Amino acid sequence: MEETEPYEDLIKSLPTDPFGGSPPPLHQYKGFWFRQLTLQGLLATHDYFIPLPSDVLLCSFQKTGTTWLKSLLFSIINRHSKDSLLSTNPHFLIPSLELQIYRGGKLCTPELLEKPSSSSRILSTHIPYQLLPPFVKDSDCKIVYIARNPKDFIVSLWHFMVSNRHHHPVSLQEAVDGICSGVFPGGPYFDHILGYWKESLESSSKRVFFVTYEDLKRDTAGHVRRLGEFLGCPFGVDDEQEVEEIVRICSFETMRNVEVNKNEEQLWANDERLIPRVTLSLKSLFRKGEVGDHVNHLTPEMIERIDEVAKERLSGSGLSL
Ligand code: A3P
Repeated sequence: MEETEPYEDLIKSLPTDPFGGSPPPLHQYKGFWFRQLTLQGLLATHDYFIPLPSDVLLCSFQKTGTTWLKSLLFSIINRHSKDSLLSTNPHFLIPSLELQIYRGGKLCTPELLEKPSSSSRILSTHIPYQLLPPFVKDSDCKIVYIARNPKDFIVSLWHFMVSNRHHHPVSLQEAVDGICSGVFPGGPYFDHILGYWKESLESSSKRVFFVTYEDLKRDTAGHVRRLGEFLGCPFGVDDEQEVEEIVRICSFETMRNVEVNKNEEQLWANDERLIPRVTLSLKSLFRKGEVGDHVNHLTPEMIERIDEVAKERLSGSGLSL
C-alpha cells in the first residue's frame, strides 16, 4: 500500500502557484506561500512542538542574516563554549524547527530538542509571527527577529538558489517579481517582517527583540550587549574584551574561513526516511556579507520597483528598510 504524505489532504486542498515555472509548486496557507516540505514542517511544529519558558527563538526570513545571528546568540548565551563555532556550523548548534527538526512533517532529529543542562535551548524558525503556534505566542520564551533590506535580501536569495542544487533555479527577474507580488517561498516578505515588527512594538512583555541586518553591521558590539541584556545574561562594564571576541568569532571573515563552513554538501535533516536526501552547501551561506550589494546586480528599474513596493507595504508602520 502506498504511504501517504503527512498532511496530504490539507495540502492538496490549498491554492497553488507554479513559482518559477516548474515543480515543486508553492502552496498558500493562511496568507503565506510555502513549498510542501516546509509546510509539512510548519504543521508538525504546530502539532508536536512544546516550548519551554526559557527557550530563545530566533525568527527570520531566509537570507536576512540568520546564520550570523545564530552565531551571535549561541556565543552570547554559551559564552564559555563559543569556540564550538570554529568546529560546527551555526545551523547545527541552533537547529530550525520546521526545516530540520520537523522537516517534511516528521520528527527527524529529536536529539536537537534536548535542553542543555546549563543554558537556554535556542531554536530557530522562518515561520511568520502570524503562523507561530498559539502556545509559542502565549509562552514566556524570548524571540529575536532579524530583518533585511529587501533589495539585498533578493540578491542574496537568488545567489543562494543558484548555488544550491536542491533549490529550483529562478531568474533574478522572477525573484524580483516574487518579492513584489508576495508569491514567493515563505512570502509575502513584508508581511513576515511586519508581523514581528508589530509584535515588538505592541508586546507589553517586551519579548520580541527586533534588529535589522544593517543595524547589526553598523554596531555589532552594541547589539551584542543589548542582546545579552534582553536574554538575561548581560555583559558587565569590564567585559569589553569578551564582547569584542564574540564579534570577532562571529564575523563574516572568521566564519567564512572556518574549515567546516567550506563544506559544499552537508546533509541537512538527518533522517534516512526523507527522500530525496536534502543537502546544503554550507559555503553558500557565506557569500559576501555586505550592505548594499544589490547595486551590483539589480537594474535601476528593479530597484525602483522594489523601493515602491517597500514604501507602500511598510507605510504607516514606522519601519523603513
Ligand atoms: P549575502 O548573500 O548578501 O552575502 P542567512 O544566514 O539568513 O541565510 O543570510 C545569508 C546572508 O548573510 C548572506 O548574505 C551571507 O553572506 C550573510 N552572512 C553570513 N554570515 C555572516 C556574518 N558572519 N556576518 C555578516 N553577514 C553574514
